[in-house]
Amino acid sequence: MENKMRAIYDYAKGKMAQDFSGHGFDHILRVVANVELLLKTETQADAFVTVAAAYLHDTVDDKVVTDEQAAYLELRNFLISIKLSEEQVVAILDILQNMSFSKSLDKKEIRLSIEGKLVQDADRLDALGAVGILRTAYFGGRKGHPIHDPDIKPIDYQSKSDYRKGSTVINHFYEKLLLLAATMNTEAARIEGQRRTEFMEDFLKEFFYEWPTTE
Ligand code: ADP
Ligand code: NI
Repeated sequence: MENKMRAIYDYAKGKMAQDFSGHGFDHILRVVANVELLLKTETQADAFVTVAAAYLHDTVDDKVVTDEQAAYLELRNFLISIKLSEEQVVAILDILQNMSFSKSLDKKEIRLSIEGKLVQDADRLDALGAVGILRTAYFGGRKGHPIHDPDIKPIDYQSKSDYRKGSTVINHFYEKLLLLAATMNTEAARIEGQRRTEFMEDFLKEFFYEWPTTE
């Protein structure tokens, strides 16, 4: 790995190692692996900016840090200290500011660079499939959500603060996860997202088969 990318890797690892909400460094490594696959077909994207943003994408997120503003400032100073160009710094910070699902609920219109679109697809892919199922249960347990409650109906989220409250683990599939494949920016992510969605649908069928219908 090239020196600057190694420094970015170390920075991200330091920030994410203590996360136990499903956004640990293992999530980051899967998002980087996804983005590297997407770069093979999306050859017009700047690979350095894309991979760097994938490593850093959750280091400034409100789930992971308490002060988003301070986290951006610290990250900006770090990127300048390792001698990225002003253009690269702006490109990376712009992606981090605009890529998240929760932010897209609040902002009506989101602009994302091609590099940002790849990181967004890569992050969304990691919300799906077998890993996605486990991350959702892991997150819900940490937040104190029930696994399932037929009396609590899925919510159609209109804002980030509603989304952050959440409801039940099973509802999260209907509130977000099953809708993600259709929102992918690239063809490759749409195809893989669809495949992972079918797996989650099979899982849900099995789940409801096992869940007792009477008390
Ligand atoms: P983003 O970073 O794009 O805003 P999140 O970090 O909120 O998206 O979601 C990432 C993953 O965290 C989800 O795919 C899911 O696995 C888990 N997660 C987030 N919110 C909830 C929730 N309310 N209930 C269960 N899992 C959640
Ligand atoms: Ni992420």
